Amino acid sequence: MTEQGFFTEADSAEVVISRNAAAKDARLAEVMAVLIRHLHAAVKEIEPTEEEWLKAILFLTETGHMCTDWRQEFILLSDILGVSMLVDAINNRKPKGASESTVLGPFHVADAPELPMGANICLDQKGQPMRVHGRILDTEGNPIPGAKIDVWQANDEGFYDVQQKGIQPDFNLRGVFRTGADGSYHFRGVKPKFYPIPDDGPVGKLLRQLGRHPYRPAHLHYIIEAPGFDRLVTHIFDPDDPYIRSDAVFGVKESLMAQFKPMTDPTSGFEGEFLDLEFDFVLSRS
Ligand code: BEZ
Ligand code: FE
Repeated sequence: MTEQGFFTEADSAEVVISRNAAAKDARLAEVMAVLIRHLHAAVKEIEPTEEEWLKAILFLTETGHMCTDWRQEFILLSDILGVSMLVDAINNRKPKGASESTVLGPFHVADAPELPMGANICLDQKGQPMRVHGRILDTEGNPIPGAKIDVWQANDEGFYDVQQKGIQPDFNLRGVFRTGADGSYHFRGVKPKFYPIPDDGPVGKLLRQLGRHPYRPAHLHYIIEAPGFDRLVTHIFDPDDPYIRSDAVFGVKESLMAQFKPMTDPTSGFEGEFLDLEFDFVLSRS
């Protein structure tokens, strides 16, 4: 019926799908069939006016125009629609006890310096000092030696170094550490602040039209890698942050929260009060 058929409102999706029958890539054909079916169903449910459809096309056009080498507006769109977190969840199902993953975000840099364990990643002495420490473990609780920990965070005003070139030192609040035999890690940073995702483009405008704020709760980013284990891309979140229950990109997971505990300890090397943040990461075997 549909393979040679003409387009009708009732058969619209199947007519289009059958036109793709000669596709050489079976996965592409499958993906396109699902997308066409759902897209046609959405259009039938919404019944957009022609003006509304043009508005949607112009929104996507503007989203494309906003993209540069360092700004990916389509990823931001995927983030605020919860699709980035859904793709992350599907591709990072973990065994019981393993640490959960969350979004990478746009502010990772590949060439952060490798630093000695215990180093201070805050290069401008700005913000509330913080000690971050814990262990990298397998799911049986054994330490993982030689794990690479790539960490980055926003400063006390909610900006990454790459957003404030010439204001923050290069590589401020980022570094790479390697665990020793006991699998432990420790370094110094400062308390990060919540911040808005880039909201000066069409995605920010959409958030405002939807009555949503653009903020992410305060967090530290991690990529942890060790031979024989799955790469873990994750964050640690501040449970007391005002945006902890309304992250603009849905990245928060209950298991990724840790208290930033005020502390004084004359043996710590800190003068006066500092924040203590302890978190163990558990890697799954690859
Ligand atoms: C981030 O945490 O760096 C981030 C994640 C998604 C969108 C924007 C920023
Ligand atoms: Fe971030």
